[in-house]
Amino acid sequence: MLFEALKAVKAAVRPGVTTLELDRVAESVIRSYGAIPSEKGYEGFPGSICASVDDVVVHGIPSDRVVLREGQIVSIDCTVLLDGYQVDAARTFPVGEISKEAQALISAAKESFGKGLEFARAGKRIGDISHAIQTCVEGHGFGVVRSLCGHGIGKEMHEDPEVPNFGMAGHGLRMREGLCIAVEPMITAGDYRVYIAEDDWAFLTRDHSLSAHYENTLAITANGDPMILTMPNGFAGEDV
Ligand code: MF3
Ligand code: CO
Ligand code: CO
Repeated sequence: MLFEALKAVKAAVRPGVTTLELDRVAESVIRSYGAIPSEKGYEGFPGSICASVDDVVVHGIPSDRVVLREGQIVSIDCTVLLDGYQVDAARTFPVGEISKEAQALISAAKESFGKGLEFARAGKRIGDISHAIQTCVEGHGFGVVRSLCGHGIGKEMHEDPEVPNFGMAGHGLRMREGLCIAVEPMITAGDYRVYIAEDDWAFLTRDHSLSAHYENTLAITANGDPMILTMPNGFAGEDV
C-alpha cells in the first residue's frame, strides 16, 4: 500500500508540480487503504510525506512554494501505520530529463540498499549491512551521510537498533528472526556532511551537492532472505 502511494507520487512527478500536490497524492492513496500517514504530526512535522529536492537530503516539508523543475531530483520518504504497525519507504525520482550524474546517484542509492540486503539475515550483524552499503556507495565515488541512520521499526516509526549506512562488518547487534528494520542509504554526490535548514526540519548537503535516498522496511526471517514489507514483488521485482 505504501508501494502504491509511492507509485502514484512517481506518476505525478513532472515539471511544474508542487511538493504539496505530491503530498496530497500520497495521502489520498494511503487513506484509501484505511491507513494513516504517520509522519503527519510526528514531532510536529506537517506533511504526509517528506519531499526533498536536489541538495535536500531528507525531511523536506511539502510546500506549494516548491515547484519542481526539469532536471531536478526529488526524494519522497513516507511512513504509514496500518493495523498497529509502521512501515517506512523512500525513493528518489527524476523530474523530466536529468543529468547522467544525478541518474548515477539514484542508481547507486538503490544498488547500495541491495548490497546491504544481502546481510539482512539471522546471525549476521547490523554492521555487516552498514559496511556493505558504505563500500558500495564509496566505490561509486559518492558520499554516505553519517548523521542520519536507518532504524528498527514496529509499533513505533523509530525503534532500536540504529542501522547506520557506514561502519564495520562484524560489529553491532546480531540479527534474529522477527526483527524489523528500515534500511535507508542517504547518499551525496559530494561532501557527506549535512546541516539543518532554518525551518528546523530539512537536512541539506553542506556543499549543496545532490543527494538521493532509497529505503525499505524488512523483516528478518529464521533462515534465508528477509521479507521486504514495502515491495510486493521483492527487491528483484518491479520497483516503483
Ligand atoms: N520516514 C522517516 C525515516 O525514514 C522519518 C520521517 S521524519 C518525519 O525515518 F518527521 F517526517 F516524520
Ligand atoms: Co523513511
Ligand atoms: Co526510516
